[in-house]
Amino acid sequence: MCGIVGTTGMINGVDIVLEGLTRLEYRGYDSAGLSVRNPDGSLQVHRREGKIEHLKNLIEQKKPVSSVVIGHTRWATHGVVNEQNAHPHGNDLFSIVHNGIIENAYEIKQELMNEGIVFQSDTDSEVFLQLLTLYFKQTQNIVKSIAKSFERVKGNSAFVIMSKMDEHLYAIKHGAPLVCGESAQGQLYVSSDPYALTGLTQNLIFPENSVIAHLNSDEQKISFYELNSKLSKRYKVEDKLDHQDVVSKGEFEHFMLKEIHEQPLLVQQFCHRWTEPEKRVIEQSSDLPHLFIFGCGTAWHAGLSIKNFIEKKTELRCSVELASEFRYRQPKLRKNDIAIFISQSGETADTLASAQLCREEGIQTLSIVNVKGSTLYRTCDQNYLIQAGPEIGVASTKAFTMQVLTGYWLSENLIQNKSLKSGIKPVEVLAQRIQELLGRSQEIQKIAEEVYSKKSFIFTGRGDYFPIALEGALKLKEIAYVHAEGYAAGELKHGPIALIDSEVVNIAIIAPELMDKTLSNAVEVKSRKGVIFTVGDEKQAVQMKEFSDYFLGLNFEGLAELAPLYVNVALQIFSYYVAKIKGTDIDKPRNLAKSVTVE
Ligand code: AGP
Repeated sequence: MCGIVGTTGMINGVDIVLEGLTRLEYRGYDSAGLSVRNPDGSLQVHRREGKIEHLKNLIEQKKPVSSVVIGHTRWATHGVVNEQNAHPHGNDLFSIVHNGIIENAYEIKQELMNEGIVFQSDTDSEVFLQLLTLYFKQTQNIVKSIAKSFERVKGNSAFVIMSKMDEHLYAIKHGAPLVCGESAQGQLYVSSDPYALTGLTQNLIFPENSVIAHLNSDEQKISFYELNSKLSKRYKVEDKLDHQDVVSKGEFEHFMLKEIHEQPLLVQQFCHRWTEPEKRVIEQSSDLPHLFIFGCGTAWHAGLSIKNFIEKKTELRCSVELASEFRYRQPKLRKNDIAIFISQSGETADTLASAQLCREEGIQTLSIVNVKGSTLYRTCDQNYLIQAGPEIGVASTKAFTMQVLTGYWLSENLIQNKSLKSGIKPVEVLAQRIQELLGRSQEIQKIAEEVYSKKSFIFTGRGDYFPIALEGALKLKEIAYVHAEGYAAGELKHGPIALIDSEVVNIAIIAPELMDKTLSNAVEVKSRKGVIFTVGDEKQAVQMKEFSDYFLGLNFEGLAELAPLYVNVALQIFSYYVAKIKGTDIDKPRNLAKSVTVE
């Protein structure tokens, strides 16, 4: 989380940095700031609590001009959300921005304070600034001081540094994303995210861990150094990303709504891309690998759906792992096992750490990822791009659908197998069905208007619909700030049913499969005065309406195992309208960030 943008060169960089920060605001929006360097070398910091809009207003008043600028949009880790803790952090000599966490900040801070250094903020980031200043006073060498400071801090971080001494920028990272780029005119850029540099640079340069990038505006080039100050070759150069226009909301009130509406077209495009691979990941053999699927949040839910496909369609054994937990267990990995990582951003710290661990164990790694060129994309042996396009709403919608679809394709094409194959037909039906469902948004909105003020929402589903119950609940709590839980329908009676009263809504997914059992679970809730909103098979409408307070009838015909994705879109629309009625910040819900780049 946190977005970083910096530039140095011939032109005034303030607008460039503000524009880059606006593109990265989804990474954090607790506060924003930028630093400029005046011609006399003095450094000026402009910061504001809250969204980039607040910073823009300040810049509008102050009108700073500088050819060297660094900026930051913050998702708070250490230190409350206020202007004092906003980045950049600076003094007379340096100004720095930081993304990540310095895990040993407390002990270094104590040490520096004992030496009389006074801290201006409660952030861990300022520790790096103070170390840098201390070492610079001793060495008078910027690169050496960065190296020494960097060697002291633990954890995953990226730093960009501006100094009084020159008009250059310096950057370094460990385990956090960092990318540099050069324009044809010699303007130099650095960012935490290639997206900020789209359309600005002719290349993208990704320094490896512990490599110092030196953006030298005098020579109009970027050089790289090892921590011992020797020139480094540890960086990768890639062509610039395909030009993407900076995404706009178009006719929609929110990005989330726009992204929900993009799904029919994306699903249709997926059909056009459907081909059988020349070579399968797994050659049929007697010693089949175990598949480990990793993800966080929505991506983990996608993994649960994909596991169901794999188990149905192949002989493979498969487990789904919360990336944030996996490393702390004693997982038993074998050399021929395969690890699949699911991520929209490709920058989620926990997912990346698990990928790293699997690589160290020598296991084949595959990703199901949206952002081409992301750290995950560059880490894995093989990548399956979900091609959902930029997802800006913090609540993931279209990425989930495309992750699951990609997993569906993979489950049929991973291994030469004789088992069940459903192929492309259900995907075509899915595109049409989602389109029809979007046309019924008002119907769903009306139900949202009836129940939005209830105190709690329990989403239930069985089998293939259990991951959808989890995903539905996550979406609602994330954007509507309301208590919601996803439960396997059969588990309610093992505890959560104690919560049921007339203030609790049970959103019961009752699909044709396991209908009788799931239906009984909903009736049990009704008997305890719970409010029932059934999302179920329209063919059973009469029976379902008997116990349901609200009923959304869906046509499951022809969707085979993709029907859960169709149900999920109904739940996305429902959450969207509950949040809209509540007046929350739908695209940037409080306390969240789009890419979670801290562990
Ligand atoms: C989804 O709505 C969430 N914002 C969140 O759970 C997200 O899916 C998770 O942080 C993983 O992100 P990734 O897909 O970019 O790795």
